[in-house]
Amino acid sequence: MNNRLRLGVNIDHVATIRNARGGGHPDPVRAARQAAEAGADGITAHLREDRRHISDGDIERLTAEIDLPLNFEMAATDEMLGIALRHKPHAACLVPEKREEVTTEGGLDVAAHHKHLAPFVKSLLDGDMRVSLFIDPEPVQLHVAKALGAPVVELHVGAYCDAANPQARAHELARIVEAARYADDLGLEVHAGHGLTFDTVGPIAAIPQVVELNIGHFLMGEAIFSGLTSAITRMRSLMDKARAEATGSATA
Ligand code: PXP
Repeated sequence: MNNRLRLGVNIDHVATIRNARGGGHPDPVRAARQAAEAGADGITAHLREDRRHISDGDIERLTAEIDLPLNFEMAATDEMLGIALRHKPHAACLVPEKREEVTTEGGLDVAAHHKHLAPFVKSLLDGDMRVSLFIDPEPVQLHVAKALGAPVVELHVGAYCDAANPQARAHELARIVEAARYADDLGLEVHAGHGLTFDTVGPIAAIPQVVELNIGHFLMGEAIFSGLTSAITRMRSLMDKARAEATGSATA
């Protein structure tokens, strides 16, 4: 069994910096290319309704110019569905979106919004995309994700990463571990993301059911100090080490 944990590099914040001045620098597609060379297994980009970072043109270029699978993060809106069906990225991840939030705060409440979400999941699946739902690590959310027919869930690990003290972090980690186990029992593929850093990635990478992590903001921030290649290489090796230790395999 291939036990290698995949790393999806989210390049949104390269576009954030570019957009601060307008123009084309720094180019998120160049970052995606470099991420691929540094060992990323996929590229993740969130085309937000307000286009605050990634643009329509970025998505077009990412699908045309980058060989790695693209994980297209999108709100469940008709506009985004149309864009997804036009570009047919490898994967589409449905995320919650509110204009006023700074970042994606909490997972998509699929239990509350299942009626709205059902046709989006179906259309994306019919369009041959791997559909994932970005949800909080709660049994009811997993249950509804399964009922909606999504093959993948991405567990929001922000509460774990942002926990104020070790007790709170341990509590949040236990919820994620439990949720990953339950998701796997339901036959769902498990991904995780949001807020991961060098300090927080290990325990999440060690969860055996998790097959993919999506990481962006920290890597881009760290790239300012050490370069993108170095930041991704270090993240990759921390992930691999945690997974190897957890599974007792010899390579670390
Ligand atoms: N996964 C999903 C579904 C997200 O929405 C985000 C943030 O855009 C991430 C992962 C990456 O989070 P971060 O940038 O905090 O690493």
